[in-house]
This record gives sequence, structure tokens and C-alpha cells, in this order.
Amino acid sequence: MKILLDTADVNAIRRAYEYFPLDGVTTNPSILAAAGRAPYEVLGEIRDLLGKDGDLHVQVISRKAEDMLAEAQRIREKLGENTFIKVPVTPEGLKAIMLMKERGIRVTATCIYTVQQAFLAGKAGADYAAPYVNRIENLGEDGVKTVQRMQDVYDANGFGTCLLAASFKNTRQVTGLAEYGIGAMTLPPDILEGLLKNPCVDSAAEKFIADFETLRGPGATMLD
Ligand code: G3P
Repeated sequence: MKILLDTADVNAIRRAYEYFPLDGVTTNPSILAAAGRAPYEVLGEIRDLLGKDGDLHVQVISRKAEDMLAEAQRIREKLGENTFIKVPVTPEGLKAIMLMKERGIRVTATCIYTVQQAFLAGKAGADYAAPYVNRIENLGEDGVKTVQRMQDVYDANGFGTCLLAASFKNTRQVTGLAEYGIGAMTLPPDILEGLLKNPCVDSAAEKFIADFETLRGPGATMLD
């Protein structure tokens, strides 16, 4: 299971990499808009942080497949050939995914709300497929269950596509998919940090320190 960070906030990425086992960064046009900076400037900084082999996912904007392909080529020139190109699974997007795969471009199919879209992205040969867990729940469906069904479709058909679940709003959605063993998930920094937010854990760790200090004095550690 890979864990990626769903943000273009460079400081948040730096901080999260210090404390958590992470495999890369995903962005989308809304995330870049929220960062409020020139896209290639911020993406270049993220690429530098991740190193040339880190997983970086960047989305195309165009509506037509051929234009998406041109954008993919520009993104790869600017940010490295191993950059994953995110393409919405619309009819033009599906065509673009096939064009990109014919050219050896790494592709993340995105904007996935349905098992049908995930199936077609897998059939088209996408490397990753990104279903939107919480947005699916906002439509009245069970987001976790829907993504589990997508994994079942990939397993049943032997597709090599890896699910990269996105759009998380709580840690129950995260553990629901971790238990099922999907390939990857991308989390906003607050949800990632939420995985370790627990007052019982904090107080247990503090109690161990306080007990040791009663034995050896304030500030004592196993170095003493
Ligand atoms: O890239 C897709 C993901 O970031 C969507 O998340 O929070 O906008 O539903 P959200």
C-alpha cells in the first residue's frame, strides 16, 4: 500500500515527509489553484523535494484528447518522464489514456465515481485509477464499498491497474480501504495527521516519561 499526500503546499509536504512514511504527492487543478502560485514553480519545488524518482501526479486541463496528450508531453519535459499524468475518465479522457499508453506515458485515471469508469480505465491500461471516496459518499453511496468493488473488478479481470483512492474526509474511510489492501491512497495532510491523533496515546506516552522521571529525575532518559 502506497501513501501519497494530496496537496501542493510545499511546507506541509516537507513536514509530513519528516514524520510519516510517504511515497509521493498528488495534485489536481483545484489543489494548484488553492496554492495560488505559478503551477510549474510550485510543481518544480515539489519535484525537487521528492527527488527524480519520487511519485508525482499532475493533471491535464484540456477537453480534447490530442490536447491532453500535448499537455502530458509538456508536463513530462518540465517535471520528468516518470511523472504520472492524471486524466479524467470522460470519453475524451479515455481516448487520451490510450494515446498516452501507446507512447509509454505513465497515467493516472482520475475523476472516478463509478465502478464502470474504473473498469474502463483498467481496460485502457491506466497505471493508477483514482476513485473519489468521499465524493461518492456525498452522492449517497458507500464510498469504501464502491472502491472495494473496483478492486474486485481489477482482480477478477487481471488488470495491472492500481487503485489510488482519493477524496478522504475521515480516518474510517482510510482504514476501511487499508483493511481491504488496495494499492494506494492519497491523503490531505489533516487526514494523514488524524491517523495518529489520539489523546489516549499521548497520555500513555507522557505517563511512561513521568514514571521514569520519578525513578531517575527530571529529564532523565535511557542515555543516562
Ligand atoms: O484529486 C482528487 C481529490 O483531491 C479530490 O478530493 O477533497 O476535492 O474531494 P476532494
